[in-house]
Amino acid sequence: MTHRGAEPPDGTGFLAVRCDVTDSRQVDRAFEEAEAAHGPVTVLIANAGVTHDRLLPLMREEDFTSVVDTNLTGAFRVARRAARGMLRVGHGRIVLVSSTAALHGAAGQSNYAAAKAGLVGLARSLTREFGPRDITCNVVAPGLTDTDMARALTPEQQSELLRRTPAGRAAHPDEVAEAVAFLAGAGYVRGAVIPVDGGAGLGH
Ligand SMILES: NC(=O)c1ccc[n+]([C@@H]2O[C@H](COP(=O)([O-])OP(=O)(O)OC[C@H]3O[C@@H](n4cnc5c(N)ncnc54)[C@H](OP(=O)(O)O)[C@@H]3O)[C@@H](O)[C@H]2O)c1
Repeated sequence: MTHRGAEPPDGTGFLAVRCDVTDSRQVDRAFEEAEAAHGPVTVLIANAGVTHDRLLPLMREEDFTSVVDTNLTGAFRVARRAARGMLRVGHGRIVLVSSTAALHGAAGQSNYAAAKAGLVGLARSLTREFGPRDITCNVVAPGLTDTDMARALTPEQQSELLRRTPAGRAAHPDEVAEAVAFLAGAGYVRGAVIPVDGGAGLGH
């Protein structure tokens, strides 16, 4: 597992390596550390995400590019680095964590939604590049999930999202992890976008 600002949780038994996905050198170093401990990385979960919400007229260029840099280019950086080892051993699972915002759009989140939609094109293009090899790349698209990111939304934004969610509640992070774990094992699911959204995307 990687960590950036916060220290990793104690007692997980996982190797924790520091990595900011906006910095290719840190990405390289993190992979080198992981490879030294465990060999080639054969499962990659690109989960790092940030929001910087602004309506379009108020959105500065750097609000847009910084969100794309973490959410989309960050996923590209780690997928490119992981693919090296995966191609060498002929096996790999890449899961990109997107959002329902990619599919429905979200007012005030044109930067975030565009970046998360970009992950779909990235996953589908890599699926074609990997072809018949045993290397998959899929997307999980969570809806409102009970984490700090969701808690940063206004109560009005949260209730509007919940109003459109048949499950009537936010996802627990473990429920997103279940879909990620499935894709980390599945070999014949490729270029898929799996919504974990309590039904919010019905009909889309
Ligand atoms: N919560 C939701 O409602 C929701 C819905 C749909 C999709 N998602 C997606 O789910 C994923 C996880 O988000 P979350 O809900 O757990 O949000 P969160 O609580 O805000 O966590 C975001 C995580 O991304 C890490 N991160 C941010 N920028 C990074 C960078 N440059 N390099 C490395 N790590 C970085 C953060 O690390 P630090 O601790 O160092 O800041 C943090 O661990 C994100 O991709 C998010 O877009 C969330």
